[in-house]
Amino acid sequence: MKQITIDGPAGSGKSSVAQGLAKELGFEHLDSGALYRSAALLWLHAKGEAEFLERLSEAVFSLRDGKLCMNGRKLGDEIRTPEIGKVVSKVAEMPEVRKIITQKTRMLANGKNIVVEGRDIGTVVLPHACVKIFLTASVEERAKRRYAQYRAKGIDLELEDVVKEIESRDRIDSTRQVAPLKAAEDALIFNTDSLSLEEVICELKKIVNEKLKKC
Ligand code: CDP
Repeated sequence: MKQITIDGPAGSGKSSVAQGLAKELGFEHLDSGALYRSAALLWLHAKGEAEFLERLSEAVFSLRDGKLCMNGRKLGDEIRTPEIGKVVSKVAEMPEVRKIITQKTRMLANGKNIVVEGRDIGTVVLPHACVKIFLTASVEERAKRRYAQYRAKGIDLELEDVVKEIESRDRIDSTRQVAPLKAAEDALIFNTDSLSLEEVICELKKIVNEKLKKC
């Protein structure tokens, strides 16, 4: 089975690129950020840390029609709000949370041809993956993309606030003790500034197909 990892900071285009690439290759797609966002949702609703950790370890994640489900329910816009965006990196910093989600992500990816995206997939979760990609883009470009996504969902906020959210998550994600955001040594680093989604997918498809022949 062949695994492709796509890591990178918020707004670098991981989700759209991972989905597009998976479709082109006929692979499944898993967004590990959605597991951390679900953890943040549980955190916001739990009464204290013990209850939160118990709910998170007991949560059953599955892929249904390409969508991630938690305890049988498809996860949608409720995990993509600015409220979750504000707390998710703090929740993802907790070593216990990382341990649980790393294990659940591996279980979901196991035995599949799959594209898995996140922050530590190539470095920690699937270090033996066939192909590893690390996407980057400037903070300005990433904030503009995220701002457009929020607006498209009818969420009204200032671009300045989105820049703050992105910068704060970059800082926490890159400096945390356990599994910080960084490119694996054997990852291909790809800058998506001023490239359209189609251009990125087209370019990566060529590179990935070459690499897949060798694994
Ligand atoms: O979509 P976006 O890039 O904004 O973020 P995401 O992939 O949905 O991930 C949300 C947050 O989860 C990140 O900012 C990280 O704090 C955390 N995360 C992580 O720590 N490790 C991963 N493999 C994936 C996400």
